[in-house]
Amino acid sequence: IMSDWTECLKFGINLTKQTSEIILNAFKQQKQVHLKSSQADLVTETDLRVETILKSAIRDKYPVHRFIGEESVAAGECVELTDSPTWIIDPIDGTANFVHRFPFVAISIAFTVNKQVKAPMEFGIVYSCVEDKLFYAQKGRGAFLNGEPLNASGQEVDISRCVVVTEIGAERDDLALSTMTSNIFRLLRIPVHGVRALGTAAVDMCQVATGGADAYYHIGMHCWDIAASSIIVQEAGGVVMDTDGSPFDMMSRRVIAASSTAVANRISQVIQAFPCRRDDED
Ligand code: IPD
Repeated sequence: IMSDWTECLKFGINLTKQTSEIILNAFKQQKQVHLKSSQADLVTETDLRVETILKSAIRDKYPVHRFIGEESVAAGECVELTDSPTWIIDPIDGTANFVHRFPFVAISIAFTVNKQVKAPMEFGIVYSCVEDKLFYAQKGRGAFLNGEPLNASGQEVDISRCVVVTEIGAERDDLALSTMTSNIFRLLRIPVHGVRALGTAAVDMCQVATGGADAYYHIGMHCWDIAASSIIVQEAGGVVMDTDGSPFDMMSRRVIAASSTAVANRISQVIQAFPCRRDDED
């Protein structure tokens, strides 16, 4: 029999909605902020709490399933994709937004089986909680925003008519900063219609699925930031690939999402990457 993960998807959606209450309640309060990989890579007790709640609820219901969670990895767990059903969790994507009350923060949950580093996830859920926007997609069954079907923009070739979303990222070393700013410089010089950044990779990428943006690219984010939105973009008719033009690899720390292969290829010709350690490198 073919596996159907619809029950897991429904469970994930309900759990995400319930757990978002914790983020919304904490949003307006003062937070205790700790640093991770850099001065701009932040974590709060709410990130930790939300990840713990999500994982224990999923584990109660599906005891054999495995996890890759942002804060568990930060605490020393390794990123290992096996053939087991695996939930890839970012409890708060946009932690710096959360700390500053900039209103784009999301819970991002992807689900994959059989080591699908490159192939699409089985499903993805991105809940932008302050906006109350629930994005989700299931492999082969389309992408939705609050129940309405999503379609990428259909922009095929003309990159000068594109709105491109990207992220500044949390890196603060000279090579990362000069690469990031010169990528934006080269895009604006084409010129594209605009460059945008919301402060959460997951929600940024969902803009490509809505057609509000034609492309998104990012270097340096992690698998949990983009796994869920990658299937949302694909199911909305868009494409995902590596910034060097090779097939999408959620562990590579590089991604382009676009309305079409032509637009993605064009972006890959314009931008450069700085070196990042793979998420699954030990
Ligand atoms: C971050 C956000 C941000 C991106 C960083 C990510 P986090 O995730 O997605 O937009 O620029 O690279 O690390 O830490 O808030 O989950």
